[in-house]
Amino acid sequence: MMLYHDVLIVGGGLAGLRAAVGLCDKYDVGLLSKVYPIRSHSIAAQGGINAALANNPNGKDDTWEKHTFDTVKGSDYLADQDAAELMCQEAIKVVYEMEHWGCPFSRFPDGSIAQRPFGGAGYPRTCFSTDLTGHVLLNTLYERSVFKGVKVYPEWFVIALVNDGGQCHGVIAFDLKNGEIVPIRAKATLFATGGYGRVYFYSTNALINTGSGIGIAYKAGVPIKDMEFVQFHPTALIGTNILMTEACRGEGGYLTNKDGERFMKRYVPNAMELAPRDIVSRSIQTEIDEGRGLEHPLGKYINLDLRHLGAEKILARLPGIRNICLDFIGIDPILEPIPIMPCQHYSMGGIDTNERCETDVKGFYGAGECACVSVHGANRLGGNSLLETIVFGKLASFAIDEYLQNGEIKTDEGLLMSRKEEMEKKIHGLIREGKEKPYTILADLSKTMSSLVGIFRKKEELAQALKNIEAAKERYRHVHVSSPKLHMNHELLNAVELEYMLDVAHTIALGAHLREESRGAHFRRDFNARNDTDWLKHTIAKIGKDGEPVISSKKVMITKYQPMERKY
Ligand code: FUM
Repeated sequence: MMLYHDVLIVGGGLAGLRAAVGLCDKYDVGLLSKVYPIRSHSIAAQGGINAALANNPNGKDDTWEKHTFDTVKGSDYLADQDAAELMCQEAIKVVYEMEHWGCPFSRFPDGSIAQRPFGGAGYPRTCFSTDLTGHVLLNTLYERSVFKGVKVYPEWFVIALVNDGGQCHGVIAFDLKNGEIVPIRAKATLFATGGYGRVYFYSTNALINTGSGIGIAYKAGVPIKDMEFVQFHPTALIGTNILMTEACRGEGGYLTNKDGERFMKRYVPNAMELAPRDIVSRSIQTEIDEGRGLEHPLGKYINLDLRHLGAEKILARLPGIRNICLDFIGIDPILEPIPIMPCQHYSMGGIDTNERCETDVKGFYGAGECACVSVHGANRLGGNSLLETIVFGKLASFAIDEYLQNGEIKTDEGLLMSRKEEMEKKIHGLIREGKEKPYTILADLSKTMSSLVGIFRKKEELAQALKNIEAAKERYRHVHVSSPKLHMNHELLNAVELEYMLDVAHTIALGAHLREESRGAHFRRDFNARNDTDWLKHTIAKIGKDGEPVISSKKVMITKYQPMERKY
C-alpha cells in the first residue's frame, strides 16, 4: 500500500493544525500524528501568547516594533531579526484570527482580550485564557480542522523522511494501531513535530516530546541549527517537573529562598521575578547550589509564593496551577508556597528553516518547536512559543501553496518503495535477542544531559557528556525489543525513537562544547561572557558520511537592533 497527499503534515499540535487549516480548502492534506491531535504537547502551554494589541488598557503605546526589540534582546542578539519582525507583526493578526475562530480568551472588564506581564517584556502583552491558553488554542484549531475536513491519521508515526538530496518525496510511516509500515507520497511535507525535551531527565515536556522529528530530518541530511540552546524553565513543580506557568509570576507571585528572601533583588533588582527565563533559572540554581534552597524528600527547591495574591485572583487567573498542586503534591497555593526547581522546557534549536519555513531540501518544510527559524536565538521569551507555532504554521501554508502552484512536481514512487523495504528490515531487525533495552539507554542518556549539559556548563563536563553519548550510541547497536508484535508495541516505538534521540543529544552536547562563550540559555562557567567577535553566529550541524555531525556556522540577520549589553 502507498498513500498519497498533495501536502503531508507531520504533527497535530498548533503549528501543524494551523498549516493544515490554511491549505485544506485548496489541496488534499493529510495530517499524521503520533497521538490524537488534542493530546499534542501544545495543549500543555499555560501562560499565554504574545501580541502587541493596540487596545490594551495597560499598555496602549505597545507596538510590534517594541515586541521585536524585546524578542531580539531576550534572544541575546542571536535571533534573525527579519524573522522576529515578521513574527511580531503577524502576532496581532493571528491573535485576532484565533479570537474570531472562537478561541475563548480571558477578557478585560471592557471586553477586550486580557493581557498579562511576562518575563523580559516591556509591556503586559501576553494574551491568555486563565492558565489554559495552549488548551483553548489547540481545541479551537482542532475544531476548525475537523469542520474543514482535514484528513487526520492519529497514532501514526513517521520513521523516515524520503528525499533524494535535493527534493523531498514524502515519508515512511508506521501505523501504530496495526503495525503496518506505509510509504506516504507527497509533493510537500511539513514537519511540525515539536521539541526534544525528553532527551533530558528533568523536563516539563510530555513523554511524546522525543525530538525524533528533528533526528529524522538530520538523518536524512537536512541541516539543524543552534542545538546547544536549550531553555530551562525556572518553575517546575518539585518531583513531577510539571510546568508552573510564568503567569504565576506575571500575576505577581514571588520567588523566595529558605530565609524567605525575594532573592531576585540580588540578581536583577529592576525586573525581579519577571527577568527572562535564562536569568531567573540561573538565579534559582545559584540559590540552591549556594545552600539557600530548601530540602524536600524529592529534591532541593525554591518557593514560588502566590499566597499574597489572594484566593479570588488565584481561582480566577491560575485555577489549573492550583489543581495541579492539589492533585500532585497535596499543596494548596492559596495557603502554602509551591516548591519548584528549574528544568528543561523548550528547544530553541531545531531544523534549519528560513522565515518561509523552507529547509535546504525542496518540498520539505519545518514549523513550530522542531524548527529553528530563528526567532528565539539563544533564549526564548515566555509567550513567544505559542505565537511562533501559529504564525509559522500559517506562513508555512503560504510557502507550500506557492511551491505547489509553481510548476509540476514529480515524486518518486520507486524511491519510496525501496526506502520502505529498508525501514521494514530495520524495524524487524530490532525484534531480536540482545543485551540492551531502549529504556535503560534512554535513562542513562537523559541523566547525562540533565547533569552535564544543564543550566551551567563547562568544558570537562561537556567532554564527559560527549563520551557518554558515544557510549550510548555503541550500546544502541545491541538494543533489542522483546515483544514480536508490531501493533501498539511501545517498546518498539521507543527503540526506533531512541536512535534519533541519540543524534539530537549528540548535536546539543557538541554545539555546547564548541561554543566557547555564554549567550542566553547557554552558560559556560569557563567562558562566562558573550563574545560577539567570535560567536555572533548560528551553529549548523549536518550528518557526515560516517554518521558523525559536521559543524559549520551561519550568519545572524541583523536589521536595526545592533547587539548591545543585555541589561534588565
Ligand atoms: O510559563 C509558561 O506558561 C510557559 C509559556 C511558554 O513557554 O511560552
